[in-house]
Amino acid sequence: MKIVNIASIPGDGVGREVVPEAERVLKAIAELHGGLTFEFTSFPWSCEYYLENGSMMPEDGLEQIKDFDSIFLGAVGNQRLVPDHISLWGLLIKIRREFEQVINVRPAKLIKGINSPLSNPKDFDLLVVRENSEGEYSSIGGRIYNEDEELAIQNAVFSRRGTERAMRYAFELAKTRRGHVTSATKSNGIVYSMPFWDDVFKEISKDYPSVEVDSQHIDALAAFFVTQPERFDVIVASNLFGDILTDIGAAIMGSIGIAPAANININGKYPSMFEPVHGSAPDIIGKGIANPIGQIWTAKMMLDHHGETELGDHLLDSIEEVTSRGIRTPDIGGTSSTTEVTSEIIKTLLR
Ligand code: NAI
Ligand code: MG
Repeated sequence: MKIVNIASIPGDGVGREVVPEAERVLKAIAELHGGLTFEFTSFPWSCEYYLENGSMMPEDGLEQIKDFDSIFLGAVGNQRLVPDHISLWGLLIKIRREFEQVINVRPAKLIKGINSPLSNPKDFDLLVVRENSEGEYSSIGGRIYNEDEELAIQNAVFSRRGTERAMRYAFELAKTRRGHVTSATKSNGIVYSMPFWDDVFKEISKDYPSVEVDSQHIDALAAFFVTQPERFDVIVASNLFGDILTDIGAAIMGSIGIAPAANININGKYPSMFEPVHGSAPDIIGKGIANPIGQIWTAKMMLDHHGETELGDHLLDSIEEVTSRGIRTPDIGGTSSTTEVTSEIIKTLLR
């Protein structure tokens, strides 16, 4: 029996509505497998927890979850209770940083039954691998002087180690997909870090002769995400470029409520964390209409991560079958509830 121990953190808002639903799906998947069990341990860390305890998680919080196989998170943030910079940095970003989750992976795919805002979306199916630990999001720099003399300097940090591992991760994923990696660059405008990025990309690509490569400037690449998303397989990007591309990826799918993400620890010292792209959706809390697909698709990424790719694919197929039958939450044009959509997905899975 394979047991996967999951630290479950529903967090705030709709996180608490969609995490239990995705757990139901994972339990059903385990049934289907026969030799697999998911053990969930739930942690109440959230903005409400903060109000009672003065912090988003206990002082030894990271210690409590570091030996789990994965972390399954809903959403964090409730600005009526706690300012966002405190809640996000005290929980979500703390886990990403301290657990060295140096890669962020976000797929974008045309899902049958969900309207893309693109007028003629071809059958796109892409995956963005974003460097998640350095790049443009560094805290090196400063601000000096005042008024007309005021100036700000922000340095970007590109290490060989950080760049290489993101690229290798992208190539490894491409080998399991359609065998193509696109590098997001801007070496025509950023004259030190991006030529370095291009050099490392060329070097690493030599280790993967079966994978086709190309390199695109980020501005053109962003435009192609809108005009020809079907041309991409895996895209590897720096922290900032990846951040922007993944938002476009979620947008062309049709709703932020369906977009999944994974924060991957690749040195094996700590668990990886799986969380949907959306936040706590304060405007729809308690209405029972949160789209569970983002969280459920995130569960598929967790299945893949634990080697259960066949089950993961079966789960995504089941999601698509349900949406194409018109069983959808209001954000994607339906009238079904969170629970109805989940139950249909489970029924379809087990059929
Ligand atoms: P949001 O993603 O929570 O909501 C944006 C819009 O998308 C809203 O109209 C919402 O109703 C809709 N939406 C989001 N998830 C949905 C779902 N599953 N089904 C249907 N509709 C859905 O972003 P917003 O409003 O900017 O942030 C709200 C709170 O969430 C803030 O406190 C913010 O800091 C936090 N947040 C947390 C994130 C995380 O935990 N990773 C990511 C983004 C925001
Ligand atoms: Mg973003």
